[in-house]
Amino acid sequence: MKKILTLVLAGVMALSMAACGTKESKKLTLATSADFPPYEYVADDGSYAGIDVEIASAVAEKLGMEFEVVNMNFNSIVTSVSTGKYDMGMAGLTVTEDRLKSVDFSQSYATGVQVVIVKEDSPITSVDDLYAEGASYAVGAQISTTGAIYFGDDIAGGATTCTLQEFTSGADAIAALTAGKIDCVIIDNEPAKSFVAANDGLKILDTEYTVEDYAICVKKGNSELLEKINTALNELTADGTIPSIISKYIPAE
Ligand code: ARG
Repeated sequence: MKKILTLVLAGVMALSMAACGTKESKKLTLATSADFPPYEYVADDGSYAGIDVEIASAVAEKLGMEFEVVNMNFNSIVTSVSTGKYDMGMAGLTVTEDRLKSVDFSQSYATGVQVVIVKEDSPITSVDDLYAEGASYAVGAQISTTGAIYFGDDIAGGATTCTLQEFTSGADAIAALTAGKIDCVIIDNEPAKSFVAANDGLKILDTEYTVEDYAICVKKGNSELLEKINTALNELTADGTIPSIISKYIPAE
């Protein structure tokens, strides 16, 4: 009798563990920073919206998984994915050599261009002005973004005598620019367009700062998920889903 009970108990335990296991693997968690329109932002009704959110949700659907968005500061995304806390990171996230040391990236699904936002009457008229001899402009960027990293590297390398101020969000940097606390903001082109449209008296300089690839990051070595994501991205591109998500948020000019 005792033996049977133990067996039954073991069976129940195994079953419930299996149930838990499938439940967990059924959900795809997305780490993002919803402060970056049109890639990710909080919509008026409080829901998460944007190109990345919709593509990630379509990927989850392809994989037959539930989908959850986890919003955090941009500089926490790579760490929370590299430690396995969340399955994937997508945030207009640029593929860089440095990030490749801690996470793996999918194929690229979009191109980003770093641009410079100034006040309409700014003495800064081109990116070169930031690198002119003796230039002392205060340059703003979101903390840990490529804009901040590259400009910080240029300061460290002596390529510019300007200073860098890092902000928690792009919106904070824009607020500082509008308030006259800094002279320009380096940020990706699409969010730049959104911020300039939402704030009076700002413009984007014609010269581009850098061109880069956006991709999805996963925990280093999680090739199983990475392959599934890449397959899903290919299918969603081929069937027109991704192009139509992108053109919905970025209408052709
Ligand atoms: N492309 C830049 C980078 O990867 C900026 C991305 C910022 N994304 C965001 N959701 N705030 O560093």
